[in-house]
Amino acid sequence: MQIVKLREQRKTQEIRDKVAEARLKPRDLILPYFVVGGENKRDPIKSMPGIFHLSIDNLLKDLETLQGLERILLFGIAGAKDEIGSESFREDSIVQKAVRAIKKNFKDLIVITDVCLCGYTSHGHCGIVKDREIIDNDATLEVLAKIALSHAASGADIVAPSAMMDGQVAAIREVLDSNGFNKVRILGYSAKYASGFYGPFREALDSTPQFGDRKTYQMDYRNSDEALKEIAQDIKEGADIVMVKPALSYLDIIAKAKLTFNIPIAAYSVSGEYAMIKEYSKSKKEEDQLALEVLTSIKRAGADFIITYWAKEALEWIQ
Ligand code: PBG
Repeated sequence: MQIVKLREQRKTQEIRDKVAEARLKPRDLILPYFVVGGENKRDPIKSMPGIFHLSIDNLLKDLETLQGLERILLFGIAGAKDEIGSESFREDSIVQKAVRAIKKNFKDLIVITDVCLCGYTSHGHCGIVKDREIIDNDATLEVLAKIALSHAASGADIVAPSAMMDGQVAAIREVLDSNGFNKVRILGYSAKYASGFYGPFREALDSTPQFGDRKTYQMDYRNSDEALKEIAQDIKEGADIVMVKPALSYLDIIAKAKLTFNIPIAAYSVSGEYAMIKEYSKSKKEEDQLALEVLTSIKRAGADFIITYWAKEALEWIQ
């Protein structure tokens, strides 16, 4: 019997590097930022060690240190919340201001904005609440369209609807096109699961639902065919990139999506995945190695883009 000597290709680091299949590249990585009003703010987010609420001036300073990172994702911290999240689509709200400032100073940076209501509503849900319990799909679409339009008008390159409302990509594509923003692209949070791994992020945004949960709009983690339906639907509606979220417990979904569709796949390595490794690691070195292993696994599974709080550090590890 012929034995294939696979250990030959593991003999030295040099050989291993030569035959490695999946490799992270700077263009794969997307760094999320949390922007807050005011000046000179750099407030640590307790649930996410190493991540901060940054005011626009400090955000701009931080962007100076990116060195080769091509894409960022912006979340805004609302000043005042109400039932319908009306601060989310104002021209002078935090994300809109931040995008204008970034685009003035960093023309080539690709700015992606999160389009959702949960950070802006007093009840913490991603949509408009009807009769104190139901999230009204179509009423929410109108607001999501307004948010996306205001982000595009401020200069966003890509808008990323994350509310998991049916028809959100179509509603946004329509409003963008009819207002001359044909060039603005859409990154759909297509297969977004109702996950326990968003906890630290909700602390950061103070967006924990005040009643009920998100299971009537985010996906049930027992399902995978449904994820492919969601993604197929978003592609039909005009998404340019589709996302699977979270990443680590959903590598199978990423892999299926990659095999099924001919479109860039993004994966969001979410706050709980980040916090979990931070907590587990006994040293910075261990954290870096674990994070690189996890991010590379996401790439190996088939992700073309990875949204990660380690994006800046990962850049150093791979260069
Ligand atoms: C909300 C949104 C969530 C995240 C990004 N956009 C979470 C949620 O549904 O509460 C999570 C990101 C993370 O956990 O890092 N639309």
